[in-house]
Parts: sequence; structure tokens; C-alpha cells
Amino acid sequence: MTLSEQTADQPVRWGILSTANIGVKAVIPAIAASNNGRLAAIASRDLPRAEAVAARYPGMRAHGSYEALLADPNVEAVYISLPNALHAEWTIRAAAAGKHVLCEKPLGATPAEVRAMSEARRTAGVLLMEAFMYRFHPQIRWALEQIAAGAVGPVRLVRGAFAFDIRSSPGNIRLQAALAGGSLMDVGCYPLNFARAVYSASPLAVAARAVVPSGSEVERSVAAVLDFGGERLAVIDCSFEQPAQQFIEVAGDRGRLTIPRPFTPREQETIVRIERGDEAVERRFASTDQYRLQVEHFAACVRTGAPPFLPLADARAQAESIEAIYAAASYARPW
Ligand SMILES: NC(=O)c1ccc[n+]([C@@H]2O[C@H](COP(=O)([O-])OP(=O)(O)OC[C@H]3O[C@@H](n4cnc5c(N)ncnc54)[C@H](OP(=O)(O)O)[C@@H]3O)[C@@H](O)[C@H]2O)c1
Repeated sequence: MTLSEQTADQPVRWGILSTANIGVKAVIPAIAASNNGRLAAIASRDLPRAEAVAARYPGMRAHGSYEALLADPNVEAVYISLPNALHAEWTIRAAAAGKHVLCEKPLGATPAEVRAMSEARRTAGVLLMEAFMYRFHPQIRWALEQIAAGAVGPVRLVRGAFAFDIRSSPGNIRLQAALAGGSLMDVGCYPLNFARAVYSASPLAVAARAVVPSGSEVERSVAAVLDFGGERLAVIDCSFEQPAQQFIEVAGDRGRLTIPRPFTPREQETIVRIERGDEAVERRFASTDQYRLQVEHFAACVRTGAPPFLPLADARAQAESIEAIYAAASYARPW
């Protein structure tokens, strides 16, 4: 039996870089529940924090530095949930250590960072994917299939928003310039990503405004009109200073598709609605762990060598679109 035959059925051994909230609450439990992965190790800048998480998962080792986790030969794939400004550095270091990388969105803080990360992946011969977990939810896959099949006719406008209120958390990484915070980086990237997926393209021209409240290190609200050419538009907005909301609407020349909870459906049924003239179709989706679908997909790619569902060319185009929106808003990134 060859080595690859021996490992083909073995769960992928994951290492977790940081004790970030999103890891502890969503991605670590998803890996623990996955059918093709197991939690091998977690690293924190503070060893007791890593130990506290590892204690909940039998067999999970704790490291007191990210370097130590990357040097752990038992780790095959790394999940990176560091602040945005650290994604590039640690993805590049993980790839150089021979680890596959699932890195949180936005993949890099700039297009140049995404290009450097892609190059590091290629040189090391490992896999790298931007963790846009919502793309794995069946409601999104179905909606995109319906749109592509012409359910609303040729699409003329994609509208989307994602906002929540973090004014009472001044220490939040999202509000810090040095950590590449900002509402477009954190939540506006989702409706942008969806509009790009609908049109299978990036905007050709952009008009935008960014709001930087007095005393804020980063923008806290952005609104943008995106022109994809051929009479195809998108209007997106995002904010850190509004009550939580999210939605997607896709208007075609024959109908309209709406997704009331497109990005973080959590433990609830979700609905996609298509209206065409007097007809309305509602498709309901049972509660689904989109984080689990994402990590199972990535682990399957690690085992088979298949390219991940979300390609790096798309992550590069996404970073370029974020840059174009900031430029259109005359927002000078403070990092
Ligand atoms: N896909 C999703 O659903 C989703 C949801 C939320 C966030 N995210 C993304 O995930 C990433 C983390 O977000 P989060 O809200 O989970 O972050 P968070 O709770 O603030 O955690 C960030 C972690 O990074 C580590 N870290 C290293 N250097 C740091 C520094 N200088 N300042 C603060 N923390 C530092 C810390 O871990 P140690 O102290 O253990 O080293 C910290 O716990 C972001 O890129 C965000 O965009 C994705």
C-alpha cells in the first residue's frame, strides 16, 4: 500500500491559527463535526488561551505561538482567522511550511497581498482558499443556479446589504486601521462577492461614498453603485453603525429573486423567493452548517488534490473590486 493510499481515507489534520471568535464559535465546531477532518492543534499568542480551547476537543494540542503550530508535523491544513492585516503574512508562512491554508475573508488586505499569497501557494504546491462560507450554503448555490438558468430573465440589478452595530465595542479588530478594519473589508465584501458571482465578472466602473465618523480610524459605512457593463448594475451597502441587517435582491427583466438572510443564516430555515409576474415560488432550506460544508469541501480537496470551489483568481478580482470601491469613494486606506 502506498503512502497516498494509506492517507486517502484518513481525516485531514487541521491546525487553527488563533483563538478568534469565529473559530471558537463556528469553524472549530464545524471541523469537529466534519466527516473528513479532525482538530490536531490550535495556537494562540497566549498559551493558556489555546489550552482552554484544546481542552474541549480530545486529541487537540495547544501551542503558545503561531510559529510553533506551523512547525508541528502533525498539522496538514491550517485555518487562519487572524485580523485582516495578518492574513497575508501567516498564509505565506504556512504555505512555506508545507501546510494547506483555508484563510478567512478578505483573503488579503490589498490586491498585491492576494497576489503574493497566490504565488506562495504555487511555489509550495499547497492549496489555498478564501473562506467565503456563505457560498457553500445550498440556498446560495440554488439561487445562483436559478439565476444562471434564466429564472428572472437577464439580470439588470443586484442589490445587497450587510450591516451590524459595533459602536459599543471600540476595541473590535474591525475598527482598527493597523489591523485593516473597515465595513467594506468585513461585511460589504459579501454583497460585493455575490454581485460578482451573479455576473461572473467584476465591475467595470464604480461610484461610491465612504463614511468615516469623527475619531474613527476606519470607514464605518460604505455605499456603492457598480457597473458591470451591458446594462448590468449592482447597488451594495454596508455599515458598522446600523442595527443588524442583511439581504439580497436580484432584479431581472422578467422577475425578481430575494434572499432575506443570505450570509449568516445560523440555525434557522432559510427561504429564497422568486417572483415572475403573478407567479411566486418559495424554496425553503433546512438549517445547514455552512461552515461544515466549507471545511469538508476543503479537506476533500486536500485529499484528492482537486482545485477548491472558490478559485484564487476570484479572490484576486474581489480584492481589486474592494480597491476600486475605496478609490471611487476617495477613501485612502489607512494601512
Ligand atoms: N466567515 C465568517 O463567518 C467570519 C465571521 C467573523 C469574522 N470573520 C473573519 O475572521 C477573522 C477574525 O475575526 P474575529 O471577529 O473572529 O476576530 P477576533 O475574535 O477579534 O479574533 C482575532 C484573533 O486574532 C489573534 N490576533 C493576533 N494578533 C492580533 C492583534 N494584533 N489584535 C487582535 N487579535 C490578534 C487573536 O488570537 P490569539 O490571541 O489567540 O492569538 C485574536 O483572538 C477576520 O478576518 C474576519 O474578517 C469571518
